[in-house]
Amino acid sequence: MRRALRWVRLLPVVMALGVGVATAGGAGATAEHERPAEEDPLGYVVDLEELDDPATIAAGEELYRTGCVSCHGVGGVGAPNGPSIVDAGAASAHFYLTTGRMPHTGTRDDQASRKTPAYTAEQIEDLVAYVASLGNGPPIPEVDPGAGHLQEGGELYRANCAACHSAAGAGGALSFGQNAPSLEEATPVQVYEAMLIGPGQMPTIGTTFSEEEMNSIVAYVEHLQRLEDPGGLSLGRVGPIPEGFVAIVIGTGATTLAVFLIGRRVDEDDDDSDHAPARDQEELR
Ligand code: HEC
Ligand code: HEC
Repeated sequence: MRRALRWVRLLPVVMALGVGVATAGGAGATAEHERPAEEDPLGYVVDLEELDDPATIAAGEELYRTGCVSCHGVGGVGAPNGPSIVDAGAASAHFYLTTGRMPHTGTRDDQASRKTPAYTAEQIEDLVAYVASLGNGPPIPEVDPGAGHLQEGGELYRANCAACHSAAGAGGALSFGQNAPSLEEATPVQVYEAMLIGPGQMPTIGTTFSEEEMNSIVAYVEHLQRLEDPGGLSLGRVGPIPEGFVAIVIGTGATTLAVFLIGRRVDEDDDDSDHAPARDQEELR
């Protein structure tokens, strides 16, 4: 019995190690998503001038045939596993490819989530050019956070975004097992595009805003990103669900430790042959 207890004593240590590994993993993931270089602070990745070039479009069609056609069909008309992207436009293709959401992994009902992009910057440029050539979707927007106003952005953000993404931009759970992701890693262009195209369960809110208001919101999201760890220890910003899980694991570990320490004294007293409390009582008599 006591041997078993000794193992229980190790439990918090094991849990702490697990948390350490998870945090290190999270930090690694953040490094991979690191903001683009100084010369591309808005996160364009692609050269907008190249998107009309027939050679770029042709190279994109080539990539499309191997990586996308199975789900989106020939010419982007849609297939059982994916919607039509004929009128998705450069903005949507750019958002889905630079956030790593495409190529999609999983079934059509699974939420496309942010991951390390599967394609290089040049390949993304080719694919965006090809998708844009298919129909009449919105182009990649011109973003200028400097043209916005932080205070206005804050008001618009709280009224239109905070309900899903939380006041600090940390994200939150939605219905049907989906979630509004943390905005920590979104580049200014991606924030603008998300408002334009309304990915997944997000509404296309942007259509109701002026350009200035859009830039104000982008500026405010950038402001949130600069705040240090909104909502407490960020654990590599892996997101609210895994972070909540870590909180539970640490909580369980701490509780186990507390229970163990409380229980231990009684345990040792029981084993003692010359019972200290009993002797005290005898002396009292
Ligand atoms: C395994 C199937 C699958 C593959 C492969 C795939 N997609 Fe998708 N794609 C989807 C699904 C499902 C959605 C809808 C998901 C969503 O909106 O969250 C989607 C959505 C999109 C959208 C957004 C459509 C819109 O209405 O704005 C674009 C753009 C897109 N995909 C482009 C691509 C490109 C480019 C590739 C190849 C690099 C690709 N996809 C590969 C399944 C796939
Ligand atoms: C109804 C809930 C809802 C509202 C309101 C909403 N979003 Fe979203 N947002 C989502 C969901 C869900 C996704 C993930 C979409 C997907 O599945 O691909 C998302 C994705 C995003 C992303 C992509 C994040 C990333 O790193 O990939 C950005 C940026 C974003 N939203 C910004 C905003 C802004 C700015 C507003 C307010 C103007 C807003 N959202 C309002 C639900 C919402």
